[in-house]
Amino acid sequence: MSVSFEALENILGRYPASSEHLISALQDVQARFNYIPPEAMTAVCDHLGVPLSRGWAVATFYKAFSLEPKGEHDVAVCLGTACHVRGGRNVYDKFRRELGIIGDEGTTRDLKFSLRQVRCLGCCSMGPVAQVDEEIHGNLNQRKAGHLLRMYRKR
Ligand code: FES
Repeated sequence: MSVSFEALENILGRYPASSEHLISALQDVQARFNYIPPEAMTAVCDHLGVPLSRGWAVATFYKAFSLEPKGEHDVAVCLGTACHVRGGRNVYDKFRRELGIIGDEGTTRDLKFSLRQVRCLGCCSMGPVAQVDEEIHGNLNQRKAGHLLRMYRKR
């Protein structure tokens, strides 16, 4: 996703030039772009009169902020023990293959999906489990994983 000047101006226009608005402004940037683009960080810090180093320190500290581009849909696949023994690894591998993710975690080139591993989503009896955005999907297998991706691709 490219960083549009209008979108940034829109966000900056909501905040008076004061350092107390740093986190709120960064939350708006995160919500708009799904991560904190460097040019947006520079614009926010310039506008609020905050040193760039402080902006990056805040963005690094809080897990809610991503420094890497994220996909529109967040796919978190559970590889905790209960899901693992029920085939969670096969489900995870299916997601990786379908999304063309190299390595354990990553984002698709079209920025549609980000894939990551988690250790327990708190619903072990439904394993294997994945969470896509806010929704939990249980009793997954490779076929259902492919179906899920097709469903979210259309959204
Ligand atoms: S181990 Fe997967 S939800 Fe608990």
